Amino acid sequence: MLLKARVAEPLRGRARPPGDKSISHRALILGALAEGESEIEGLLESADVLNTARAVVQLGAKAEKSADGRWRVQGAGGFRQPGETIDCGNSGTAARLLIGAVSGFKLSARIDGDQSLRKRPMNRVIAPLSQMGARFDATEKGRLPLIVHGGALKGLTYRSPVSSAQVKSAVLLAGLQADGETILIEPERSRDHTERMLKVFGAQIDTVDIDGAAHPRVKASRLKGTHIYVPADPSSAAFPMVAALITGKSEIRIDDVLVNPLRTGLYETLREMGADFTWIERRDPIGEPVADMIVRASKLRGVEPPAHRAPAMIDEFPILAVAAAFAQGETRIVGAAELRVKESDRITLMVDGLRACGVDAEELPDGLVVRGAGPKGVRGGALIRTLGDHRIAMSFLVLGLASKEPVTVDDADMIATSFPGFVECMNALGADIRQTR
Ligand code: S3P
Repeated sequence: MLLKARVAEPLRGRARPPGDKSISHRALILGALAEGESEIEGLLESADVLNTARAVVQLGAKAEKSADGRWRVQGAGGFRQPGETIDCGNSGTAARLLIGAVSGFKLSARIDGDQSLRKRPMNRVIAPLSQMGARFDATEKGRLPLIVHGGALKGLTYRSPVSSAQVKSAVLLAGLQADGETILIEPERSRDHTERMLKVFGAQIDTVDIDGAAHPRVKASRLKGTHIYVPADPSSAAFPMVAALITGKSEIRIDDVLVNPLRTGLYETLREMGADFTWIERRDPIGEPVADMIVRASKLRGVEPPAHRAPAMIDEFPILAVAAAFAQGETRIVGAAELRVKESDRITLMVDGLRACGVDAEELPDGLVVRGAGPKGVRGGALIRTLGDHRIAMSFLVLGLASKEPVTVDDADMIATSFPGFVECMNALGADIRQTR
């Protein structure tokens, strides 16, 4: 399906983007590992998360949506041998977290995914999990499909070469079944939803100081079913937010957004760019901070976000590049080489798409430079190649709302992997995004 976005009226009104993807995957996996029932309020029902729901059922749990809209997971206190291949679809989080979680059990699980996921690196989890005692049937390149043979793990202190919450979570989830303690050290702190949620499920988890920083440590634990509330995904909220910032005279409210400080790098960066937004009603329902946001159209200026901030905004670089295209001056993004191994090579796709829309942009090995159009405005008027990447598609549709000529994306079906109802949500705020041929 092709979608076209054209210049929008000022955006007005209120939106509640769907639930956080990271928290949703974790709630299902931890609920399945726990003893007893867990209730999940506000689960993101996107293609990615539904793959995880199917996977935990294959591994012996029950996971169903109740009539009241909440999901109930009946955990069996561990995983059993799955009958068939576990298909993770497009989701790196599902694949890496499940590989870690199954490693602790005496079973063999075949894990697979779609064409995009089959290209993404799995050695980053195979290496530490092998050191813990899991065995893998995988190609040398470490790509899906692969078979994990789990059981009898020993604890590990692992220095991860990348700041990746997926790697960290895979190791910590394996550590739940390991003999001894498991510690994960990463260069910069990545999102900590696994650690926060493990506490809520009653796991033995704390932190240990190494080289002047706190790193998570887990010991073998039995988890107990609990209640999880899933706030709106800040990575999804980023799209209406940037749309409002770049569309003249807009003012919108975005409700119930997760504002975990390890996820708010985009907001910090936009603030430095001159974005006018406020956070209100901060609450902390079950271990994660939440806020409502008011966002107003703003004159933005180019910035250079520090490289150490990259993990806190790793999924938001595509939409940041769009904000940068409308800003006055240069935005230089560095320290973001991980963008090359996401659902697509997001550095190349963003630069190609921005150039096609008349924006001056350039690739760096670990990022990109965008020279913003400022008051001149962005031309737009292009058909964007997305290679099936949901965030590339949404980013360029947002660009099309404020550019002079409409922007079309070559595929939009993938948007449902993270933001089902994206078009309806944006159009309810006054955007004009429609199907085209
Ligand atoms: C995620 C971690 C990030 C992020 C992904 C979700 C998670 O990936 O890009 O969308 O839920 O743990 P990495 O761990 O590969 O950085």
